[in-house]
Amino acid sequence: EIVRKLFAGTAEFFWGTGSLGGLPPMHGLEIAFAGRSNVGKSSLVNALTRRKALARTSSTPGRTQELNFFRIGEGQESAFTLVDMPGYGYAAVGKDKVAAWTDLIYAYLRGRANLARVYVLIDARHGLKDNDLKVLDSLDKAAVSYQIVLTKADALKPGPLADRIRTIEESIIRRPAAYPSVIATSSRTGEGTVELQSAIVQLLHE
Ligand code: GTP
Ligand code: MG
Repeated sequence: EIVRKLFAGTAEFFWGTGSLGGLPPMHGLEIAFAGRSNVGKSSLVNALTRRKALARTSSTPGRTQELNFFRIGEGQESAFTLVDMPGYGYAAVGKDKVAAWTDLIYAYLRGRANLARVYVLIDARHGLKDNDLKVLDSLDKAAVSYQIVLTKADALKPGPLADRIRTIEESIIRRPAAYPSVIATSSRTGEGTVELQSAIVQLLHE
């Protein structure tokens, strides 16, 4: 009920910035979505808020070019902020921009005091890549709590999907800041979105 009410409330874009100096004042808890370019971060923001185009999406990697802040459930007790990030790794925008985004992503993830959790999105078809592991290392080092979320679960059959989840859970077992279980989602079918919403509400009440 709390979950339904919170996510049925308002969801509003309120801030975007391409530089650390341009971050919004801290106001309540933030929950960030990080992941490689094109993994489906912006699509998941839309799926969670049940809005078609709150966050802009594209089939071309490199769509989201700033840290975008969305206020969810303003006026409610558990109102919070979702942060959609630019992707790391390859993007169709050139090396310099990707490097600048990567610096921004790392600085934000390591240094934001009201960041309650990072959801690290991993394409269910691809699993953990080198640049994902670097982000996990950095979060572990900075003791920033994170959980792995698989995206595009619709692209795998149930068997391979279960294998993917198990392999990742086994590989993160010794990571100090990792939440041990993996959530599989699809923005296309809606699979896993209620589970993720519930996880968010739970951590807002911790
Ligand atoms: P950047 O902002 O460029 O880093 O990308 P992003 O991680 O925000 O990805 P975005 O949400 O823009 O989606 C990238 C592509 O993946 C789009 O073509 C989406 O339609 C597709 N996509 C996103 N979610 C899903 C999903 O659950 N299933 C499938 N099959 N495709 C998806
Ligand atoms: Mg995006």
